[in-house]
Amino acid sequence: MTWVGNFYRSAIGKKAVMAVTGVILFGWIFLHMVGNLKLYLGPEHLNEYAHWLQTLGSPAVPNKGMLWISRIVLLVCVVFHIHSAVALTIVNRKARPVGYRDRDYLAATYAARTMRWGGVIILLFVIYHLLHLTTGQAHRDFIENDPYHNVVSGFQVWWVAAFYIIANLALGFHLFHGLWSMFNSLGLTHARFNPWRRNFATAFAIIITAANISFPLAVLTGIVR
Ligand code: HEM
Repeated sequence: MTWVGNFYRSAIGKKAVMAVTGVILFGWIFLHMVGNLKLYLGPEHLNEYAHWLQTLGSPAVPNKGMLWISRIVLLVCVVFHIHSAVALTIVNRKARPVGYRDRDYLAATYAARTMRWGGVIILLFVIYHLLHLTTGQAHRDFIENDPYHNVVSGFQVWWVAAFYIIANLALGFHLFHGLWSMFNSLGLTHARFNPWRRNFATAFAIIITAANISFPLAVLTGIVR
């Protein structure tokens, strides 16, 4: 197994790990967004979906078994995604202790320049989000096993809705640049293929951001109540 350690110690290895863990996290964020669309179908649909997630694989798998497996996979991905990002940042700083005097900010897009701060905002958001809608400590009217009620009453607080909107905008930029650079990190680049991957990154970042932002907006405007 030493080759695995050696691979991860190299910069290319860390980039590959960042890309693969990023793809898994992205896939999960996409599925989570699709599941949350059930908010528009009404309380029974969203709550039934949440119940289905808890009993997935039953009776072969104990209740919440699949949920815990996915939680462990997600946690491992988050840890390696952040560890490789921090390690690569340290390597970059050591290689260039004095920053570029005139950086070409046209070539380096806004999304690319905000990857690190965007990542920090997303991490803080996820911690808050878990305390808000999963465990309920950060929610003033949390009801166990009633996600529809928790989402709607949660977003009726304007500053909570505003925080979700800001964090999901940051996530949108992060996903756009992350999806785009993932192809580089995995060596999937070709002149013919490049417009396609830009469209792919743009489409997915916009779809996920628009849907996620629509949830707090729908509650604030009274469309979902
Ligand atoms: C406005 C957008 C979002 C809404 C309405 C939403 C809603 C929810 C709800 C209701 C739950 C609790 C489900 C339950 O316990 O039955 C949940 C859990 C969770 N959400 Fe979100 N979410 C949103 C965006 C996000 C984003 C952007 C991320 C990640 C970057 C995320 C990560 C999670 C995680 C990790 C859990 C815990 C899942 C588990 O129980 O293991 N959510 N979300």
